[in-house]
Amino acid sequence: MIPEKADVPTIDLDEIRRQAWAAPCPAPLSDTERQALRERIKQLLKDRNAVLVAHYYVDEELQSLADETGGCVSDSLEMARFGHAHPAETIVVAGVRFMGETAKILNPEKRVLMPTLAAECSLDLSCPADAFRAFCDRHPDRTVVVYANTSAAVKARADWTVTSSIAVKVAEHLHRQGKKILWSPDRYLGAYVQEVTGADMLMWQGSCIVHDEFRADALKRLKAEHPEAAVLVHPESPPDVIALADVVGSTTQIIQAAQTLPNDTFIVATDRGIFYKMKEATPGKTFIEAPTGGLAASCGSCAHCPWMNMNGLANLADALERGGPDHEIHVDPAIGREARKSIKRMLDFAESLKVQATGEANVASPA
Ligand code: 13P
Ligand code: SF4
Repeated sequence: MIPEKADVPTIDLDEIRRQAWAAPCPAPLSDTERQALRERIKQLLKDRNAVLVAHYYVDEELQSLADETGGCVSDSLEMARFGHAHPAETIVVAGVRFMGETAKILNPEKRVLMPTLAAECSLDLSCPADAFRAFCDRHPDRTVVVYANTSAAVKARADWTVTSSIAVKVAEHLHRQGKKILWSPDRYLGAYVQEVTGADMLMWQGSCIVHDEFRADALKRLKAEHPEAAVLVHPESPPDVIALADVVGSTTQIIQAAQTLPNDTFIVATDRGIFYKMKEATPGKTFIEAPTGGLAASCGSCAHCPWMNMNGLANLADALERGGPDHEIHVDPAIGREARKSIKRMLDFAESLKVQATGEANVASPA
């Protein structure tokens, strides 16, 4: 019998990496330009009845602006929830495109703007909707669970959308019901969820090109140099890196772990944009970046998402000023309605468990 895995489409991650590292960085700004843009954005947010919602991985300039203007800085799910609950007519999402799409799916009546619609995500790119639908159709016996880092069209084909903070709970729930899972797109997060829950999971083979760069050998050496440090790892990282973690969790859970663990030093395997909020939440603690592929001189190994990095003050101001096809998110209403069902299922489940998406992290058991 041909193993099911054999029919999982092959993904050209090298091509996706090439696209990623070709993403243009915002031009550097002088202090005067920076200040002028900050003031202009603050005024435009008021004039346009808009709120700024930023992910932890974007430049700290944008994170601080979101805080100062009554917006929010959070993980992908909280960004969507916040925009949904906020009375503003326009939501400005500083992050990557799937985050803007999720905001639009949950708030179809609102205008959703982004500094750039070219901010992709390698997980989203590695799961084209047509190929994914065909894959699902070949496995009708499986419950389709997709990570939030996917397009609206992929979410529309799913039974469940999950974020990293609730993926384990959802898989446990389905496993208890005797259901088999078709999981997409992140193979590492999927492998982690499978290991923790024992669920039967058929895995799409996408990965995050940023977290894929963390290296277990170098991390072991760094741990030996800092035996006092706790290791915090995002589950998009490779399995041998996850195996070295004291805590495995989503971005919010990683910040919470730094607050609650007694350690003063942390080695962190996720995008370094998170350090801004980690330092703010835990003054006096020390954070060390987990080692990446060793191409220290190249952008390809800097533990910073090249697409998150496309968000800057200038294109944020432009989004608010001009809106239009370079900045406004549109989701086909029929696709949006279907996608909303899979997102709502997660939100309702989280509510029923009283597990917020910002809830407890998975503390790794000792090896
Ligand atoms: P969170 O949902 O933990 O914010 O992660 C989103 C992401 O893109 C991580 O790489
Ligand atoms: Fe996507 Fe990885 Fe960037 Fe997160 S860090 S947005 S998963 S490419």
